[in-house]
Amino acid sequence: MSQSSEPDRYAVIGYPVAHSWSPFIHGMFAKQTNQNITYGRIEAPPENFEREVAAFFQTGGKGLNVTVPHKQVAVLIARYRTPRAEMAGAVNTLMIQDEVIHGDNTDGAGLITDLTQNLGFKLADKRILIIGAGGAARGILGPLLSAGPEYVEITNRNADRAVHLAGEFAALGNLRGCGFDEVTESRPFDLVINATSASLQDLVPPVPRSIIGDETLAYDLAYGKGDTAFTRWAKSLGAARAESGWGMLVEQAAESFFWWRGVRPDTKPVLEAIKTHKK
Ligand code: ATR
Repeated sequence: MSQSSEPDRYAVIGYPVAHSWSPFIHGMFAKQTNQNITYGRIEAPPENFEREVAAFFQTGGKGLNVTVPHKQVAVLIARYRTPRAEMAGAVNTLMIQDEVIHGDNTDGAGLITDLTQNLGFKLADKRILIIGAGGAARGILGPLLSAGPEYVEITNRNADRAVHLAGEFAALGNLRGCGFDEVTESRPFDLVINATSASLQDLVPPVPRSIIGDETLAYDLAYGKGDTAFTRWAKSLGAARAESGWGMLVEQAAESFFWWRGVRPDTKPVLEAIKTHKK
């Protein structure tokens, strides 16, 4: 691509968005792959979301990452949605093509890549516990079930929500929804994913300690400086590994970048750079 032409414009839209690492990540991807793009931030409260998206594309913008709290509304804005966005009921990536807005969801794929490629965890035949039954849990369920685990349990503070979510995905695998007091305690899970927003309040969901064993990978979709409340808790219980969601963040970004630009960036240097920043 010619570097003398006007750069293609991308941004992340959310509320709040000032803390977003997406400009840093996509900036590194663009440099590494020699793509002539700019990547900014758009802060949009819910009442302005649709207007901001329309203005962005009308003024020549090419693609958006959509973050909290807009991912569900973005489904309605995308005229065409990828099957994985449809399944997640959420869109985290928008792109305009021939004046039509398309929507994708790269969150689940980002998690799977982080688990399998970066952390070397094989999902096939594993027992998985997902804590939480909100938008984040829904977004990862389809891709997780496609990887062929033996069993997936969804547990949530509001048990009905977990039962309902498990019912929606029942055709895709062996899964069950339940409340925190009904979690299977016979033996630890191979993988425990915290998909609640409790870490944002520095809280650990009150799930039984027996879910964590010395072979368990504990994974928090949330991320921050150092450990989250959940990864700290899992480590204190002797988990084999406890990881926060930085890897998923970088891998979902790479998936979005690929969808927009047709070029797959190398995520390793970005993961290394973030590790240095966030220790
Ligand atoms: P998201 O899109 O981040 O998933 P959400 O749809 O609001 O946001 O869902 C938040 C999830 O975190 C829910 O599973 C919520 O449990 P409830 O459905 O019972 O509300 C869970 N959650 C939030 N704070 C929590 C806490 N302190 N302890 C346990 N679960 C919590």
